[in-house]
Amino acid sequence: MTVKNICCIGAGYVGGPTMAVIAKKNPQINVNIVDINQERIDAWNSKDLSKLPVYEPGLADIVRDCRGINLFFSTKIDEAINTAEMIFISVNTPTKTYGKGKGMAADLKYVELCSRKIAEVAKTDKIVVEKSTLPVRTAEAIKSILHNTGNGINFHILSNPEFLAEGTAVQDLLNPDRVLIGGESKEAIESLSKVYGSWVSEDRILTTNLWSSELSKLTANAFLAQRVSSINAISELCEHTEANVNEVAKAIGMDSRIGPKFLKASVGFGGSCFQKDILNLVYIAKSYGLKEVADYWEQVVIMNDHQKRRFSDNLIKTLYNTVSGKKIAMLGWAFKKDTNDTRESAAIYVADHLLNEQANIAVYDPQVFEQKVLNDLNYLNTRTERENAEGIYSASTPYEAMKGAHAIAIMTEWDEFKDYDWQRIYDNMKKPAFVFDGRSLLDKEKMNKIGFEYYSIGQ
Ligand code: UDX
Ligand code: UDX
Ligand code: ADP
Repeated sequence: MTVKNICCIGAGYVGGPTMAVIAKKNPQINVNIVDINQERIDAWNSKDLSKLPVYEPGLADIVRDCRGINLFFSTKIDEAINTAEMIFISVNTPTKTYGKGKGMAADLKYVELCSRKIAEVAKTDKIVVEKSTLPVRTAEAIKSILHNTGNGINFHILSNPEFLAEGTAVQDLLNPDRVLIGGESKEAIESLSKVYGSWVSEDRILTTNLWSSELSKLTANAFLAQRVSSINAISELCEHTEANVNEVAKAIGMDSRIGPKFLKASVGFGGSCFQKDILNLVYIAKSYGLKEVADYWEQVVIMNDHQKRRFSDNLIKTLYNTVSGKKIAMLGWAFKKDTNDTRESAAIYVADHLLNEQANIAVYDPQVFEQKVLNDLNYLNTRTERENAEGIYSASTPYEAMKGAHAIAIMTEWDEFKDYDWQRIYDNMKKPAFVFDGRSLLDKEKMNKIGFEYYSIGQ
C-alpha cells in the first residue's frame, strides 16, 4: 500500500517530533497530528514558535518549514483517521494509579480508546502502528478490538517503538541507531519501511515479530536505566572511600564491552519512560510467576529512589540537620537538559522532601515555569496546593533564585549553569555557601577556590 496520508493520534513528546521529522523527510505524504487536547493543538499551531508545547533543539525549524504544507495539527480526529492509510497511536501510557496493577502496570485506557475510535470511524483498510511504549501483547488487544468490528475492513497492526531521547529528539530521529518494526503482514511492514526509507538506510531498519518488538522497547529502557542505577550505586560507595565516580566511570567505560555512554552518576534518573517501563516489566514478570526476574529489575527503581532520597538527606544533614526557614535554590527542574519535560524529574522528589523539612525553595529552570513546578508538586498530594505555593516559587532569573540562599542544589545539567558568574553568586549567598551538585556539572576546584562548600555526587 502506498502511503499518502498519515494520521498520528497524540501530539505529545513522541508524536510531535516524530511526525515533524517524517513530514520533513516525506514531502509527498500529508501528516495529520490529532489530539483531544485543544490547548495543546493550539500551542502547536501558535505563530510564535517559542510557544510550541514541546521544547526540543531543532524542532521549531522543522515545524516552521512543514506546518500548513504537509504537517497539520488539529482536533479533527475522525476526519484524520478516515483520510489516512496509516495511523500511528502515540498517546500516553502512564503507570496505573488505580485498581489492579496500581503503581506498576501500564494504563492502557488511552490506547484502547484510540483503537475503539479507529474501529468506529474507519471506512477503508488501515495500517495501525503502535508507537507508544506498551506492555508485551498489547498489539493483541488492539487487534482484537479492530478485528471485531464486523464491517469487513482490514487492519494490519505494527509495533514501531520509538527510541528517541528527549533533548536530542530531532537528532535521534534524523540519525537513528535503528528503526524497529514488528508485525505479521509483510506488505504493511514494507509500507512503513518505505516511510523511514526516505532518510534511514535499509540496514538500520530491523524487522521482528510483534512481541519481540514490544519487548525490545521495554528491555532497552530497562538496560539503560540499569546502567544509571549501577553507576549511582557505585557513587555512594565512592563517597565513603577515596574513589571518584567520574574516574571509575571513565576507566570502566573504556572497556569496549561496557562502553562509555550512559555512565554519568546523577541525583537519579527521571523522565516518562524509565521507571514506568521497568515497573511494567516487573509487573509482566510477576504475572508469569517469575519472581527472581521481577525482583532483579525492581531493584533498579529501588536504587533510583534511594539516590534521590540520599541527595536531599545529605543536603539537610550538611546544613546542620535543619533546613527549616532556610532558602534553598534549585537550579533546574526538567528531568534532563534541553527539554521542558518534567515527568518523574528527580527535582520534584527532592523538593517534596525539602518542603517536608520546611525549606523555602526558589527554582530556576530556563524552560520550566512556575505553574508546571506547582502542578508537579500538587500531583504528589503531599500537602495542600496553598502550602506548596507558600513553600516554593520560580525566580525569573538565576541570580534572583540564588540571592540570599543558604544552599544551591543543581538538579539538571543545563549548559548555561556552567557559565554563570559564580563569584557574584557566592558574594550574594549566606555563608557558609553550600552547593550540592547533583550532576557533577561544575569544577570542584574552581568552586572551592571561590569559597563554596561544594559537594558532588560520588566524589
Ligand atoms: C572476566 C572479565 O571479562 C575479564 O575482563 C576479567 O579480567 C576477568 O573476568 P573471564 O571470566 O575470563 O573474564 O571470561 P568472560 O569472557 O568475561 O566470561 C565470564 C563468564 O560469563 C563465562 O562463563 C561466559 O561464558 C559468561 N558470559 C559472558 C555469558 O554467559 N554471556 C556473555 O554474553 C558473556
Ligand atoms: C529514554 C531512552 O534513552 C530513549 O531511548 C527512550 O525512547 C525513552 O527513554 P529519555 O528518558 O528521554 O529517553 O532520556 P535519557 O537521555 O535516556 O535520560 C533519562 C534519565 O536518565 C534522565 O533523567 C537523565 O538525566 C538520566 N541519566 C542518563 C543519568 O542520570 N545518567 C546517564 O548517564 C544518562
Ligand atoms: P508521550 O511522551 O508518550 O508523547 P504525552 O503525554 O506527551 O506522551 O502525549 C500524549 C498525547 O496523547 C497527549 O497530548 C494527550 O492529550 C493525547 N491523547 C491521549 N488520549 C487520547 C485520545 N484518546 N485521542 C487523542 N489524543 C489523545
